[in-house]
Formats: sequence, structure tokens, C-alpha cells
Amino acid sequence: MFILEIKGIKKTYYQGEESIVVLEDLYLNLSMGESVAIVGKSGSGKSTLLNIIAGLDKFDSGQIVWKGKIRREDPASLTLWRRRNVGIVFQFYHLLPELSVVENVALPLLLIGMDRKSAYKKALLLLKDFGMGAFADREIRYLSGGEMQRVAILRAVVHRPSLILADEPTGSLDPYLQERVLDFLLRACSVGGAGLVLATHSKEIAMRMDRVVELRDGKLRPIMLK
Ligand SMILES: Nc1ncnc2c1ncn2[C@@H]1O[C@H](COP(=O)(O)OP(=O)(O)O)[C@@H](O)[C@H]1O
Ligand SMILES: [Mg+2]
Repeated sequence: MFILEIKGIKKTYYQGEESIVVLEDLYLNLSMGESVAIVGKSGSGKSTLLNIIAGLDKFDSGQIVWKGKIRREDPASLTLWRRRNVGIVFQFYHLLPELSVVENVALPLLLIGMDRKSAYKKALLLLKDFGMGAFADREIRYLSGGEMQRVAILRAVVHRPSLILADEPTGSLDPYLQERVLDFLLRACSVGGAGLVLATHSKEIAMRMDRVVELRDGKLRPIMLK
């Protein structure tokens, strides 16, 4: 069974008189534990698609099916669905700059109702696991881009979501950390059973996913990279 089915999505952006169709009759199926890379030129709609899957952006027509049921698209249902099921690594991190590292990582746990003490404990364990224990109490605004990126990745997985969405998740990392982060995300798939949809410019990163699709002219097409 698929955890996620995107069926015939269309998305138009309007700016004044102008309109551009970014996604048109787009389909994508994702199984449990499966990882998919979305590649495509800048401006092809990768971030738009991830935002739509995350329920952060509306679409014109089509359906999103979650674990066999049509997803409810009203804001309140989407918020609950997202908190419970989704981890998102945004391209520009979207961390809360005034909060500490451990507070940022613990946030998804607090949002699903875990008590503060358990949430911080769990977040701290994850940080230590990832060699970032020393950063726990530091405020986000004092971190480097690469450090923020790793915090964003830990925040996206701390609540063990069934779906991980990642938008250029390793852009600020050196090759060593890039590999570690990819290993980490792929382990969430193979061990945790999460589905992963990852947008990237990098062929090297894309090739580490189970399959690669290219976003072009509003549609996804399977491609083989070699
Ligand atoms: N909020 C918006 N309003 C109008 N146009 C937008 C908006 N967001 C994105 N676009 C346009 O939609 C297209 C796809 O953007 P995006 O999804 O960010 O592409 P990618 O992530 O592949 O670079 C681009 O042409 C972009 O300018
Ligand atoms: Mg983008």
C-alpha cells in the first residue's frame, strides 16, 4: 500500500494579470520506507510541490491520498495531520532564532502533546546521537548555516514522522556532513519506515535515493541517472 498518492495535481500562481501553471496533472506515489528524489531546474516547481504535499500551500485541482484515504484539505485538519505525520526540512531551515537548539528540536514533540521534560530529554538524546550535544543550549542565531541545517534535520525526524519532506537539505554542508545527513535520513526510511521526498539540484544526492523523478513542464517523469 502507498502511504502517499498524489493524483492529478494542478497548481497555478497568479500575480496581478499574469498566471503561471507550475504543476499540471502531476502524479506521484510513495510507499512506506521509500525514498524519492525530485530533480529539476530552478523554478520548475520543486518547492511548490513539497509545500503542497506538506499541506502548506493550496492546489487548484486533484487529490492527495494519505494511507488510502483522501486527505482533508481544510486548515485545521491539515495542521493536525502535519504535526502527527510529517517532518519537514525547509530550504532555509525555518528555525526559531530566539530559541535554543534543544528547544527547536523538541518543538514537534511539544506540538503532539508530549510533556516538556520528556520532549527535551528526547531532543537532547537525538542531538547527542548526532554529535551535536554541545550545541544544545546555544541560540539558533549564533549557529553557522551548516549547524542550522543539521538542527533542522533533527527537528524533522524527532517525532518519527511517516513522511519526511526535504528541500535541498544538504546545501550548506561539506561533503562529509552531507553523507552523514543522507545516511541519517535514509535510515529513517529503512529502519523507521518513513517515506522520504527530497528535492535536490545534485545528481550525486539524487542517486542515493531509491528512485529519481524529474519535474519538468509541471509533471514528474522517472529518470535514470548514471
Ligand atoms: N508565491 C508565489 N507567487 C507567485 N509565483 C510563485 C510563488 N512561489 C513560486 N512561484 C513561481 O513558481 C515557479 C516554481 O517555483 P518553485 O516551486 O520555488 O521552484 P523550484 O523550487 O523548483 O526552484 C517559479 O516560476 C516561481 O517564480
Ligand atoms: Mg526550491
